[in-house]
Amino acid sequence: MGEYQNMKPQIVALLGSPLPEGNTAKLLKKSVSGAEAAGCDVQVIRVTELSLSGCMEHYFCRDHETCMMEDDVSMLYPVFREMDSLIIATPVMTMGIPGHLKSFIDRFQVFFCAKYVRNDRLVRKEKRKIRRTLLLSISGMNLPENFDGVTLSTRSFCDVIDCRYDDELLIRDMDNKVDLDRFPDLLETAYQKGFRLGGLLTGLYQDPV
Ligand SMILES: Cc1cc2nc3c(=O)[nH]c(=O)nc-3n(C[C@H](O)[C@H](O)[C@H](O)COP(=O)(O)O)c2cc1C
Repeated sequence: MGEYQNMKPQIVALLGSPLPEGNTAKLLKKSVSGAEAAGCDVQVIRVTELSLSGCMEHYFCRDHETCMMEDDVSMLYPVFREMDSLIIATPVMTMGIPGHLKSFIDRFQVFFCAKYVRNDRLVRKEKRKIRRTLLLSISGMNLPENFDGVTLSTRSFCDVIDCRYDDELLIRDMDNKVDLDRFPDLLETAYQKGFRLGGLLTGLYQDPV
C-alpha cells in the first residue's frame, strides 16, 4: 500500500504515426521528456505495433466492462482506467486520425457504454478530477481545416474516457518544413507542454492565475 502511494503519476502516450523516428515521434519524445522531468512515469504505446481489430459492434460492452474481442486493446483497458493523464501524438491522414489509431479509439466504446448506457463510469471520481489530455498533431498541408477531423475525434475520445481535452500543439505545413529538427522552438514547445501536463500532476507546475 505504501509503495502504491509513492508511485509517480502515470501518463500514457499514444503514437499514431507508423514511423518511430518521424516528425510526430520526435514531437512526442520531447513531450515525454518534459512530463518525465516534471516527475511522471510515461508509458509510450506505438499504436501501429499493436495487434487490434476495429469495433465490430457486437455490443458486448452494453452489459460488460470489457470487449468480447480479446486483443492488445482489451489488455489496455485497465491502464486507461488508472492512468493520470494522456498524450496523443498523431499525423493527419486524409483529414483525420490515421486508421490504426482511429480503430484503437473506437474500441473505447466500452467506456462509452459504461458512462452513457449504464451510468456506471469506468474511471473513478478522483481520477476524473485530475486527468488531462495533451494533443500533438502534424499535418503535411497548410489548410484552414487541417486539424478539424483530428481535434473533433480527440475531443470525443477524451469525453468518453473521462480525460479532459486540455492542451494542444498543432503543427501545419510539414511538407515544407520537412524535418522538425530544423525547428527547435517547436520541439521546445512540445517539451514545455509535456512538462506542464506532468507538473500539474506532481505540483511542479501551476497555471498562472
Ligand atoms: C496516408 C496519408 C494521408 C495524409 N493525409 C493528409 C491530409 O489529409 N492532410 C494533410 O495536411 N496531410 C496529410 N498527410 C501528410 C502527413 O500528415 C504528414 O506527412 C506528417 O508530417 C506525417 O507525420 P509522420 O512523418 O511523423 O508520420 C498524409 C500522409 C499520409 C501518409
